[in-house]
Amino acid sequence: MDTDGSDGPHGSPRSPGDDTTTQADLTSTSSDPESASGSESDDDDVSNTSGRSSKEESARHSSENDPTPNESESDPVHHSSENDPTPNELENDPTPNELENDPTPDESEMSIEEMLLEFDEQNGLIRDRSLLDPNYVVEEDRIVGRDNQLQEVTKMLRVALGDNRPPNLFLYGPSGTGKSLITKAVCHNISRICESRDIDFGTVEVNCQDLDTLGVAVYELTQQAAEEAGVDVEVPKHGVATKEKWDELYRIVNEHFDSVVFVLDELDMLVGRRDKQDPAFSRLLYQLSRAGANDDLTAYISVVAISNDTKMMDSVGSRAVSSFTPEDVHFDDYDANQLQAILRRRQDSFHEGVLDEDVIPLAAAFAAQTHGDARKAIDLMRVAGELAEREGDDRVRETHVRAAQAKVEKNRVLEVVRGISTQKKLCLYATAAVAAQTADGAARSTTGYRVYQYLTDAIDAEQYHQETYVNKMKELTTYSLVDFERRSHGPSSGMFLEFHFAERPDTILETLREDSRIEMVSEDGVQSVVEAQIQNQT
Ligand SMILES: Nc1ncnc2c1ncn2[C@@H]1O[C@H](COP(=O)(O)OP(=O)(O)OP(=O)(O)O)[C@@H](O)[C@H]1O
Ligand SMILES: [Mg+2]
Repeated sequence: MDTDGSDGPHGSPRSPGDDTTTQADLTSTSSDPESASGSESDDDDVSNTSGRSSKEESARHSSENDPTPNESESDPVHHSSENDPTPNELENDPTPNELENDPTPDESEMSIEEMLLEFDEQNGLIRDRSLLDPNYVVEEDRIVGRDNQLQEVTKMLRVALGDNRPPNLFLYGPSGTGKSLITKAVCHNISRICESRDIDFGTVEVNCQDLDTLGVAVYELTQQAAEEAGVDVEVPKHGVATKEKWDELYRIVNEHFDSVVFVLDELDMLVGRRDKQDPAFSRLLYQLSRAGANDDLTAYISVVAISNDTKMMDSVGSRAVSSFTPEDVHFDDYDANQLQAILRRRQDSFHEGVLDEDVIPLAAAFAAQTHGDARKAIDLMRVAGELAEREGDDRVRETHVRAAQAKVEKNRVLEVVRGISTQKKLCLYATAAVAAQTADGAARSTTGYRVYQYLTDAIDAEQYHQETYVNKMKELTTYSLVDFERRSHGPSSGMFLEFHFAERPDTILETLREDSRIEMVSEDGVQSVVEAQIQNQT
């Protein structure tokens, strides 16, 4: 389990060509091609910019309205300004490092054995860590606030229990809203009932986040199907045509199952290489659903596509759309009350009575403020518990949640920032510097670009055109750290993009300053440029 409080699937940036400043990065203009990773002979794959573009257009879940009045009414963290999780206060909080590096005098005199045995005696504060693991499928009575989605998915997939083909589904909504959990919970139940009825039902699930190409994805499906059936895959992973992998998948499914649900989680991430007309996810959907319709697959099959990107289906090619035709199920952000309810159903992950009263409301309020993400709320509770344990405290307190918030936020930013090129860092730094100074936390692309120009001048880096700066920022929306809306302030001001950050801009700036090139730029210099540029905005 990730003890660093990283934020699940989105915590690992995966753009293959993105990890260093390549020559192409420095010299490219608006197209900014990413290098295709690997060059498997079997992969007729693609990375299609149109696949990304729908992501770029994806609806922004704004954080500026959070917490809603309703949420704050029932929310103890808002009862006194002292407890209010304002960004300013967070800055004054002890950082996890301070907490970790500050042993009490007694501890520093203890031997290693004494410390180990003392910990043993305490037995920790967390009773059941699996309940705080984001990938663990919790029991049904711990699932709250998703009744409609649970019902819809169950009703649509339950036809697998009879002698019928379930429909294809498209589950979409922001990160941490229960899409994977609901799908897994329903499929587990169907499996259980089918077993008792002697129906060979299989769930073949893949997470597309780390799959580069269609060939890799088909192999992964084949491997999962083989595992579910308890057999071996009989084609090699590399060096064969994708067609052979498809045939192997069909063979395994047809020989071992009456009915299969294919779960394609985070499907929008399967873009593939750029030299094909359709993104890889579109071709995967087409082939799978077509195989279900003709005789390649004799078992009943249903495809459940899951995505953060509400507009993913817009970039699915017309051939795939006509054979896939899914039922849509939408997953919304959680509000602070729902997040509290989710956490309360898991408070028995801690020993009885060790959670201070404020812990759950505060963790829920923090998670609601950023994106209403249950994964983040659960992460905060877990990290708070771990920090308290590490300190040797006998309770989890509000201060631990605040320290956890700082740590989780920093980690999320770090994981995004670690994998990106210097040019993207400069774009991000300029934009975050603007967002840090505006009242509503929004940064206009026009203003951000001026600051970007200042930065590139200051460190003598290559300077891209505004269009490329905007494209780089749009590409960063993939990581859910930043989002944008198109805006115009009257006919004379023209169009611009307005960027919003899912985490505090100050954390982003602080993290980016760890890059030695960015560190060279004077903070005061940037600040005065930002102030002047904000004043210039019409
Ligand atoms: N309604 C809920 N009740 C209880 N726990 C929930 C609920 N929704 C989400 N969770 C928990 O929150 C975490 C994230 O949920 P899940 O993985 O289903 O999100 P997701 O929508 O698939 O997000 P992503 O798009 O990032 O993959 C998991 O630990 C899950 O158990
Ligand atoms: Mg998921």
